[in-house]
Amino acid sequence: MIESKTKGVGRRAMIAGAAAGIATATTGAQAGAKSGDSRKAYAIVGCGSRSRMFQEALWGPHKDHGRLVAMCDTNPGRMAYVATRAVKAGAPAPAAYAPGDFSRMVRETKPDTVIVTTPDAYHVDYIIQALNAGLNVITEKPMTTDAVKAQAILDAVKRTGGKVRVSFNYRYSPFRSQLKEILMSGAIGDVLSVDFHWLLNTVHGADYFRRWHSNKSISGGLMVHKATHHFDLVNWWLSDMPATVSATGKRHFYTPDMARRLGLTGPHERCHTCPEKAACTFHLDLAADAGLKALYLDNEQFDGYFRDRCVFRPDISIEDTMNVIVGYEGGATLSYSLNAFNAWEGYHVAFNGTKGRLEHFLNEQATTAGSGAAQSEAERGGIRLIPLRGAAQDIPLRTGAGSHGGGDDVMLADIFDPDAPADPLLRTADERGGAASILIGVAANRCFETGQPVRIDSLVTGLGRPAYPLMPGHDLPVPMPARA
Ligand SMILES: NC(=O)c1ccc[n+]([C@@H]2O[C@H](COP(=O)([O-])OP(=O)(O)OC[C@H]3O[C@@H](n4cnc5c(N)ncnc54)[C@H](O)[C@@H]3O)[C@@H](O)[C@H]2O)c1
Repeated sequence: MIESKTKGVGRRAMIAGAAAGIATATTGAQAGAKSGDSRKAYAIVGCGSRSRMFQEALWGPHKDHGRLVAMCDTNPGRMAYVATRAVKAGAPAPAAYAPGDFSRMVRETKPDTVIVTTPDAYHVDYIIQALNAGLNVITEKPMTTDAVKAQAILDAVKRTGGKVRVSFNYRYSPFRSQLKEILMSGAIGDVLSVDFHWLLNTVHGADYFRRWHSNKSISGGLMVHKATHHFDLVNWWLSDMPATVSATGKRHFYTPDMARRLGLTGPHERCHTCPEKAACTFHLDLAADAGLKALYLDNEQFDGYFRDRCVFRPDISIEDTMNVIVGYEGGATLSYSLNAFNAWEGYHVAFNGTKGRLEHFLNEQATTAGSGAAQSEAERGGIRLIPLRGAAQDIPLRTGAGSHGGGDDVMLADIFDPDAPADPLLRTADERGGAASILIGVAANRCFETGQPVRIDSLVTGLGRPAYPLMPGHDLPVPMPARA
């Protein structure tokens, strides 16, 4: 039984909704079901930063494919902001509902699909309610944050026959799809091991330590919240399932002691009221950024959420330095690291195969969420294929426009366009892919506490293998390499 984090907020949020000047829906819906409208109807739960990507897709490039009929959030101020933006975009304002009114939202606005973009630990509440109501679900990553919740989702899918899609946009970045194609082609044979090192810098990386993400019970820590992207990529790149996990993790940079070593008197509550803001280069000015102000600062009155908490405060419960070894069912090994205080932002990944090595690095340009600035992941990076013996070949990096290296737009077309072509890379992820990736992070978190390796099959039961493309087999003949 999953404890709902939303119980009891319904009435409170409704009252606050009136204060925010929005009509919490009572009967029907402004953007609700129109007879004769064949477009799919969507409801969004969680109206923060990430939800804007889905809203803008349905108000813009995909408005002929779907319509946003309802929204649900604990914060009525943020729903009022969505309503304003909808009207500006020329779309009807979605009907607004408090979390306690989820069933009424479904009854009144009749969505086909619920899009879940709440903080991570609350996804499960809405995924299961939507499945129980006979609806399909698109959830943001990570699908959920622990093994009990993952099991509840796996069971609910089996019980209801509903569909859960996890929006793993990283799979759709052109250069990550390119890597998958090279691996599928057999150019480096079958993969025996992967070295994968992800770096977050002290701008984007620090941002995780300010927000709800810094509370492990809400985000699962960076092993779940952030690394779910990376573990999913490796699972999908290899078309394989993780079997065993060993890991170590610690927080040694975003600490009160580091605040003092940087010359501050110590941590403070938040940037907005910080007495040492002039001296601290980690200071984030919510008021100076129109997007951050409208989403968060202006709506603190409704839920008391501060998006600019001190990155050095003592109550942070997530790690900033993590190392993980994953053993795969097919025999490959992954060596992975994630550090959140680096000099640059991006990653190195290398696949060691029976015919050679495939290397890829990317220097990502990341911005603070909410700034509205486009991220360009493909500014600097490359792919190199090195045969076991022979000359290395540099392969031009396939690039794309838009956020997350062009992945978001490609994924949105795959989600919303009913005529999207069949995908030979099978990039659509369901609850099995969602679970397989988070369970590596869940296992790593357990290793941090116990120091003992964890078997994935000890965490959940009935986790089937996702639909992954065929890869070069581990038993195929390998050509004798050229004489050295
Ligand atoms: N795929 C990606 O690249 C990507 C990027 C950013 C965020 N995300 C994911 O999107 C989700 C949302 O992140 P965000 O950055 O938009 O966070 P956010 O804090 O900006 O927004 C979260 C929203 O959920 C609302 N909320 C909080 N608790 C709720 C509850 N119990 N019920 C209903 N609403 C609730 C908040 O009021 C807020 O409006 C997260 O799961 C995050 O991991 C994915």
